[in-house]
Amino acid sequence: MSDKIYDVPAQWAERAYLDEHGYKAKYEASVRDPDGFWGEEGKRIDWFTPYTKVKNTSYAPGAVSIKWFEDGVTNIAHNCIDRHLATRGDQVAIIWEGDDPSQSRHITYRELHDEVCRFANVLRNRSVQKGDRVTIYMPMIPEAAFAMLACARLGAVHSVVFGGFSPDSLASRIRDCDSKMIITADEGLRGGRKVPLKANVDAAIAKLGDFEVDHVVVVKRTGGTVNMKPGRDVWYHEAADLVTSECPAVPVNAEDPLFILYTSGSTGSPKGVLHTTGGYLVYASMTHQYVFDYHEGDIYWCTADVGWVTGHSYIVYGPLANGATTLMFEGVPNYPTNSRFWEVIDKHKVSIFYTAPTAIRALMQSGDGPVTKTSRASLRLLGSVGEPINPEAWEWYYRVVGEERCPVVDTWWQTETGGILITPLPGATRLKPGSATTPFFGIVPQIVDAEGKVLEGPCEGNLVIADSWPGQMRTVYGDHERFMQTYFSTYPNKYFTGDGCRRDADGYYWITGRVDDVINVSGHRMGTAEVESALVAHPKVSEAAVVGYPHDIKGQGIYAYVTLMAGIEPTEELRKELVGWVRQEIGPIASPDLIQFAPGLPKTRSGKIMRRILRKIAEDEFANLGDTSTLADPGVVDDLISHRQNKK
Ligand code: WT7
Repeated sequence: MSDKIYDVPAQWAERAYLDEHGYKAKYEASVRDPDGFWGEEGKRIDWFTPYTKVKNTSYAPGAVSIKWFEDGVTNIAHNCIDRHLATRGDQVAIIWEGDDPSQSRHITYRELHDEVCRFANVLRNRSVQKGDRVTIYMPMIPEAAFAMLACARLGAVHSVVFGGFSPDSLASRIRDCDSKMIITADEGLRGGRKVPLKANVDAAIAKLGDFEVDHVVVVKRTGGTVNMKPGRDVWYHEAADLVTSECPAVPVNAEDPLFILYTSGSTGSPKGVLHTTGGYLVYASMTHQYVFDYHEGDIYWCTADVGWVTGHSYIVYGPLANGATTLMFEGVPNYPTNSRFWEVIDKHKVSIFYTAPTAIRALMQSGDGPVTKTSRASLRLLGSVGEPINPEAWEWYYRVVGEERCPVVDTWWQTETGGILITPLPGATRLKPGSATTPFFGIVPQIVDAEGKVLEGPCEGNLVIADSWPGQMRTVYGDHERFMQTYFSTYPNKYFTGDGCRRDADGYYWITGRVDDVINVSGHRMGTAEVESALVAHPKVSEAAVVGYPHDIKGQGIYAYVTLMAGIEPTEELRKELVGWVRQEIGPIASPDLIQFAPGLPKTRSGKIMRRILRKIAEDEFANLGDTSTLADPGVVDDLISHRQNKK
């Protein structure tokens, strides 16, 4: 790892909210007196009824309970839209850049108000009420944000499902949160290719059997042919024509749910991470302001999809709560060319740019040319999120994209955390390439060993957070027991992140990756168990074990060991068939990169698969397999090594 350190440039220190000393003082105050600190900070949003209580949280075993601002009453859409109208009604709220470079839209705060109200009225007319769950399965078009904000306006709970998930994945998410309303589009468009969203919704509903979806609202994006079921399906533009652009924002309690977002864990099906209203918005807004050094006039672009938490907190809620101009991009980094990101930056004069290491690494491969042919003069800050960024990619981002004048903020956080927890603050934090650096206000990271002992000073171990912050998830939807079990039982009284971490002598944190059976493929989180259960659902597969392995672009690739049913021939064709099968079962992001047909898997005498060994083989670390003497059949290991699949 790199020990290089970048001092804060003078021009940065000048304009930043805080300098190094200011950060330290504010940080100490935030952890010394969370009630006082967040009590003040909570005022950054409007409350219909102000809160009198601030923090009421407990990580106590068996009784985890997290409440912030619990007696306050507010509404998220009011805070993201209405309260800005008097001062910035004509300011652009959302810049939309289409997949096709000739398409873009500018939506002012006033227009956003009208669009969101119409959308809310369409939902309300279909009996969506406070507390109801609404599934949103949309491409990256402004209507996705309108739909989210419309739910928030009504106090309904949205569950956005990434448009790359399969009908099966969509169906299980619809069922889990019992949503009767689905919002989708005819088709999505990415990199010139169409994504059959409405057809996927139809297929998902067909899989739901007795479970009835009452309404499907369809936004017209491409004009492609779709089936519309009378009485259930309605075109958004037709329904919107019949309603007004006024719709009152429903008062909701600070702890009323805002959204559910499904995320993968080590075991079982994806969990419905539940975020609530007041604390979430305060935290998203504050982090967006400080981490990105957001100032009036900035054009801010986060390249994530709204199907992930990054899109929720840092395309929609954080920026709009701050009255910012946020850019939404429908396309991909390499379409029509590898210069697309930088061309969009020039076209819309983007000043703050937030993307993922996997995109940086992919673009880096085509050299400096596609970057340097663009101006990027408007840029002043770069951000990274989703996985550890290797120092080489960090340096390229800093040097070539940012021309050494833009700080790089490497932001560590999770779907569960709602917002950024460990990050540099531009102007205040000296940067080390590859390190997410230091905690945000109110965040108390600790590193513990396997027994849960808190380590001091420079050390390496598992990352936990010792106390709650306002943006923290509140529960797993419908399963509080699973919430407590997953996050609070490994190390009692602490939130366990699932990440490994090193702390250096300067107190900087270096995330080393997941320590559980979760892998991070191109910044997308995948449970190895999910891929395994997709594989074993194939009639020719008897057993499967999935692990991650280092991948130059994706960070981690998916390596699957597959044991076939007796008598089935391992062929190249079958390999392809299995990759296609997993794509169809879960979605393209879960496609195995490498499949090794394994006549046997390394198991203990009690039949437990020794994943440690499989991981080492996939990582090419044959010399480091550890003790294999406890295996039921140590011979399988040699066979696995000799048939290891080569990386592409
Ligand atoms: C996992 C969370 C947070 C939004 C995107 C992913 C990894 C995320 C970083 C970073 C090192 C990172 C962690 C974490 N991760 N950001 N800056 N440095 N690792 O959200 O899908 O919930 O995944 O992503 O392993 O646990 P997510």
